Amino acid sequence: MKIILLKALADTLAFGRFLGQVAQPGDVICLDGDLGAGKTTLTQAIAQGLEVPAKDYVTSPSFAIFHEYQGRLPLYHMDFYRLTGASDIQDMGLDEYFFLSGLTVLEWCERAGDLVPENRLKINLTIGSDESRCLTCDTGVGAWKERLQDLNLTP
Ligand SMILES: Nc1ncnc2c1ncn2[C@@H]1O[C@H](COP(=O)(O)OP(=O)(O)O)[C@@H](O)[C@H]1O
Ligand SMILES: [Mg+2]
Repeated sequence: MKIILLKALADTLAFGRFLGQVAQPGDVICLDGDLGAGKTTLTQAIAQGLEVPAKDYVTSPSFAIFHEYQGRLPLYHMDFYRLTGASDIQDMGLDEYFFLSGLTVLEWCERAGDLVPENRLKINLTIGSDESRCLTCDTGVGAWKERLQDLNLTP
């Protein structure tokens, strides 16, 4: 478990870009936290780190359940806010993307239950005062632990 304190929006963007830069095919990143915590904002920065062209992700994805973007790797961005549980996700075949060669980023991943692979990076975002955010990162059993160890967010 790693706690990351972000003082301002710019820090969230830097962290997201870092995640996008180190992501490997088949990675899964789970984002949980209240509405407005910054899950979509972080995902957009991840897209930037993955070299997704900025013009492609300007639309707010919050009303859609699934968006695919092309960058250095494909980005599968899913938002399970409107789903009730794992069976919805399976009915739509979304869980199959977790095992493809892109990076999957899931908002409200708790809805997916056991469908999420074990080697995911799970991040819980909480809102502090103003632009500050606290990120609790559960790196799981995969390579994320080492990747986050090298993290240095100061420019
Ligand atoms: N440090 C920060 N990290 C992320 N978002 C921030 C931060 N500070 C302010 N914000 C603002 O909070 C809002 C987060 O919204 P959004 O990313 O849509 O949240 P969610 O997807 O979790 O509902 C955005 O308007 C963003 O500009
Ligand atoms: Mg969102």
